[in-house]
Amino acid sequence: MAYDIGEALNIADLRNAARKALPKGLFEFVLRGTEDEIALRRNRARFDAISMRPRVLVDVSERSQAHAFFGKPSTMPIAIAPTGAAGLLWFDGEIAVARAAASAGIPFTLSTASIVSMERVAEEAGGCLWFQLYMLPERRMSHQLVERARAAGYEGLVVTVDTAATPNREYNRRNGFSLPMRLTRRNVWDVARHPGWFFKVFLRYLLRSGIPMLENYPDELRLKLTEKTDGRRGLPKSDSLDWNDLRELRKMWKGPLMVKGILNPEDAALAADCGAEAVIVSNHGGRNLDCSMAPIEALPAVVDRVGKRVDVMVDSGFERGGDVVKALALGAKGVFVGRAPLWGVSVAGEAGAGRAIAILHEEIDRVLAFAGCPAIDALDRSILQLTPGFGGWTPAAEAPPVSSVPLVA
Ligand SMILES: Cc1cc2nc3c(=O)[nH]c(=O)nc-3n(C[C@H](O)[C@H](O)[C@H](O)COP(=O)(O)O)c2cc1C
Repeated sequence: MAYDIGEALNIADLRNAARKALPKGLFEFVLRGTEDEIALRRNRARFDAISMRPRVLVDVSERSQAHAFFGKPSTMPIAIAPTGAAGLLWFDGEIAVARAAASAGIPFTLSTASIVSMERVAEEAGGCLWFQLYMLPERRMSHQLVERARAAGYEGLVVTVDTAATPNREYNRRNGFSLPMRLTRRNVWDVARHPGWFFKVFLRYLLRSGIPMLENYPDELRLKLTEKTDGRRGLPKSDSLDWNDLRELRKMWKGPLMVKGILNPEDAALAADCGAEAVIVSNHGGRNLDCSMAPIEALPAVVDRVGKRVDVMVDSGFERGGDVVKALALGAKGVFVGRAPLWGVSVAGEAGAGRAIAILHEEIDRVLAFAGCPAIDALDRSILQLTPGFGGWTPAAEAPPVSSVPLVA
């Protein structure tokens, strides 16, 4: 029976419905973190370490979340984060999420590692589209991806820089969910217990074009998800990426350039030196380095260091409107959400992803009223109460000077 999205009162409800709809291996691939999942838990805990000291008797009868990303209006200060393999959760899932974002009037970021090609998403979804780049083993191939994104009409380029190694997600290996995907007794049983997903998603791919592939990859790298990689093919490898690569990309890409996966203010300054318009403070949703600090905690120091030069955005663990309001009050110019729309799309496609966005909109609206701040872009740190030493943050005037790291020519 189809899931009634009206039943979802919050993102956790959508997640619980997705837990039932998806094979466990797939659900855990989206849900979980890495290694001992300390970063994942810390991301949540550090939101909870911030409380609010709201203002009252402010006329908040006209509340607005109207925002602009790089001068282009957005209905909310939220963008959809790139999440590879969203197309495994729902048939052509990337198109479904992108359409939901377009209807809601917010930007959608397509991952390099998507199941649906960037050209099809652009043709069939519309709206404000950004493309996320993972550097491929050969620079030339990455540059071709950038060129394709430009030709397909993507307006922004998000370069992910926090994945220098393959993350150690042990649960994926146990679930047989690594690349190449293996058929094991365990995952065959898992799929057999979720016939809805098999018939509505996987079988439709099989009937249309066979086992799904990462469609953006160039021909020489593109593999079926079950095919063995020869080391050169398969997942991106970016351990030789450096600031020169970013400068190269800056020369190629005329639109907004966002650098995703920054936690250190020093790196944020280097990204600004390279000509990026934005940095995204992120620990990949707690999926890569398990001992990384929480982005919400890294945010204030990054804002203080580069907030006047570039837009500082943030992601990782945003699940409630209050989380978003806290980040904006700390100085973020936008918040990316990854898992929230994925839970929605898993249970009801475009409508489900739209429901996730609508839930966040409703929650932000309520928090703005309670906080006594009718206009979202007018939020500032005065409404926040941070636990002492939060993020090691000191006001800009007292911050010690940070030496600049020379760029290699
Ligand atoms: C299933 C999944 C796949 C992801 N794939 C990518 C990706 O292909 N590229 C990327 O830069 N980030 C990827 N991310 C990280 C997200 O862009 C984002 O940083 C993270 O999901 C934010 O945290 P949240 O899920 O708690 O909102 C992925 C995250 C998830 C959950």
